[in-house]
Amino acid sequence: MTDLRTYLKSIYDNCVEDIFLSGRSGYWSNLSQVHNKEFLEILKNKDCKSAVKSFMPKFEEMIFSSKREAALELLDHNKKGICIDYGAMWGVLSVGMAKRGHEVIAVDKTHDSLNFLKFRSKEEGLDNIHLVQDDIREIEFKNIADYAIVNGVLEWIPEKSEIIVDEYLSNSNSKSKKSTDENKLKKPREMQLAFLKKVHESLNKEGQLLLAIENKLFYGYLMGKPDPHVNLRFTTFLPRFISNIICRFFKKKDYRTHIYSFNELKILLKEAGFTQIDDYCCFPMYHFPSLVVPNSREGISKYEIYENKDIITWKQNFIFKYFEIFLMKYLKARNFCPAIIIVAKK
Ligand SMILES: C[S@@+](CC[C@H](N)C(=O)[O-])C[C@H]1O[C@@H](n2cnc3c(N)ncnc32)[C@H](O)[C@@H]1O
Repeated sequence: MTDLRTYLKSIYDNCVEDIFLSGRSGYWSNLSQVHNKEFLEILKNKDCKSAVKSFMPKFEEMIFSSKREAALELLDHNKKGICIDYGAMWGVLSVGMAKRGHEVIAVDKTHDSLNFLKFRSKEEGLDNIHLVQDDIREIEFKNIADYAIVNGVLEWIPEKSEIIVDEYLSNSNSKSKKSTDENKLKKPREMQLAFLKKVHESLNKEGQLLLAIENKLFYGYLMGKPDPHVNLRFTTFLPRFISNIICRFFKKKDYRTHIYSFNELKILLKEAGFTQIDDYCCFPMYHFPSLVVPNSREGISKYEIYENKDIITWKQNFIFKYFEIFLMKYLKARNFCPAIIIVAKK
């Protein structure tokens, strides 16, 4: 297996405090820069779990729950290999792959998130996670990886502004800084395709991609659940130019966080060069997959009731439990499931 530190040194001249630096950076975080700074101070004196518990308890599960790793089981782990986690953030899947014995390159544009992952890897004795701050649209890895992970990241590729999630989702959107004139950017699909081509290039001959993303045709979105990337109704599935008008009206910006249906996503991946593409329906969402079944008639017939901790009200119970059972179990309407997971080979 390639010695990763040597390989990374050949690409990045600069490595400061165990993070390889490309000089390209950005910001996407649930915390503001000020909060991230405070959090990193706390991390100096507490272990990661206690720091998260005391500073941002609502993210404890998001960061540490092993349930988040469920989709990794779709990959073939027979051989210990190299994994690139694109947009690794706090690193839940990087840690999952490292614990399964692989060498991991965790790449993200947000330095604060990588810093957290550095603390966590050290604490857990995972010296097989290598941290890289780079823009994954610009990355130049070639034929190196056995695995590539793109979990909740493809939709953000066309978005160049700095993002603090809550502010970005709030209607004002005034504080999330626009870094680029949107008119000068390429079309979202073009940018996503170019990125997927890079992911494809980074894989070796037998390499596998694991990709997870919301399904634009999720029945919840059709019924008015807001698009999680812009917090507006119906934008996921309306013709893009209409979503753009809606977004410009309410958010004063373009609609760029494109997500796809199963078919559209498979076409995109084929265009990027992927060959064998297996797709799965994921419930209730890919962040915490409770049920993952193949996207086929046979697959969806394995649909069963699963745990969903987000169901609180009777209305949610009705829609997301009984309506979904009717839709999936009896109508087998798998194309309307909440999220898509793909395992694709080079
Ligand atoms: C929704 S989070 C996904 C986190 C992670 N994959 C997970 O499953 O927990 C998106 C992450 O992608 C990163 N990201 C988005 N666009 C990026 C880009 N162009 N280059 C590098 N990282 C990027 C953000 O910084 C953020 O950490």
